[in-house]
Amino acid sequence: MSDGGPHGRLAESVSEYLGINLPDSLPRKWEKFSDVVLLPSDAFTSRDWAEFRGQGLWQAVADGLGAARVGQIGEITGDYRESGVRMLLGDNDWVVRRESGVDYGYSMTKCMFSAGNVNERRRMGEVVSPNEVVVDMFSGIGYYSLPVLIHSEAAHVHCCEWNPEAIDALKWNLDRNGVRENCTIHEGDNRLSSGILKGIADRVILGLLPTSEGSFGSSIEILRGSGGTIHVHGLSKADSHNEWSEEVVRKFRRLDTGYDFEISDIIRVKSYAPKWDHLVVDIRVN
Ligand SMILES: C[S@@+](CC[C@H](N)C(=O)[O-])C[C@H]1O[C@@H](n2cnc3c(N)ncnc32)[C@H](O)[C@@H]1O
Repeated sequence: MSDGGPHGRLAESVSEYLGINLPDSLPRKWEKFSDVVLLPSDAFTSRDWAEFRGQGLWQAVADGLGAARVGQIGEITGDYRESGVRMLLGDNDWVVRRESGVDYGYSMTKCMFSAGNVNERRRMGEVVSPNEVVVDMFSGIGYYSLPVLIHSEAAHVHCCEWNPEAIDALKWNLDRNGVRENCTIHEGDNRLSSGILKGIADRVILGLLPTSEGSFGSSIEILRGSGGTIHVHGLSKADSHNEWSEEVVRKFRRLDTGYDFEISDIIRVKSYAPKWDHLVVDIRVN
C-alpha cells in the first residue's frame, strides 16, 4: 500500500503498471485542477523513462493522482505567450479552473495560466474603487479583468488582446461569470486599439512579461487628465526590486507627458527563475 500521500499513490500506480521497480525518480511536483494533472516539463523525460513513455504510463499517472487527463508543461513562447502545454492523455485541452470565486476557462495548449500569479489575480479584485474605469492592455483570457469585474464595483473594464484563442476564451469567461455587460473587448494590437480609449481610465494594467515597455506611451494616453494608477509587470533581479521599479518609473518620466509618476507599491508576484522575480510596480500618476 502507498503512504497515503499523492506521491505514494503515484508511485504505487506507476509501478503496478510497469510491473517492475521504478526505473527512475518520479516527479514530486505537479499542478492538479479540475480533472487534469499538469506535469513539469522535465517529468518522465530521462533516458530511463524513454521506453515506458506512452498511453499506459499516462493512464497510470492519471489513476494514481485521481485525474482523467494529463498534460506536460512547456515553455511559454511568442507574441501570444502560448503555453507550450502538450496533452499526454486526453484529446480535449479545454479546462475550467475555479479560483477565488472566478471561473477561468481556456485551452491549455494555446493559452498560458500561471498558477503562481494567484495572489496578484486576487489583488486586482481588491484594489479597484467603486466606479473606476479600468483598461487591461494585455488581458489574455481575463486573468486580471475577471477578478476586477466580479469582485469590485468598477464602472467598466476594457480588455485589449490580440490572440484570437485568448479572445474566444475571454468571451466565454465573461458569459460564464455573468459579467459580459460591464466589459468591452478591443481586438488587435493594444498600441492601435487603445486609440479610442484616450483620457478615460482610472487604472491601467500592463500584465505582460518579460516587459510591456512598448505600450507605456499608450497607457499614459489612456489615463484621465487627472491621472490614475498603472500596474506594470516585469522581471527584476531578486536582489534589486527597488532599482528595477525606479528604472520603470524613469522610463515613464522620459515619455515627458506632463504627469508626475511615483511608486506607490512594489509587489513580488513569484520567483520567475533562479535569482529573478516577477514583480508588479504600482505607479501613481498625477
Ligand atoms: C498571457 S497574458 C499575460 C498574463 C499574465 N501576466 C499572467 O501571467 O497571468 C499576455 C497577453 O498579452 C497579449 N498581447 C501581447 N502583446 C499584445 C499587444 N501588443 N496587444 C494586445 N495583446 C497583446 C498576448 O496575446 C497574451 O494573451
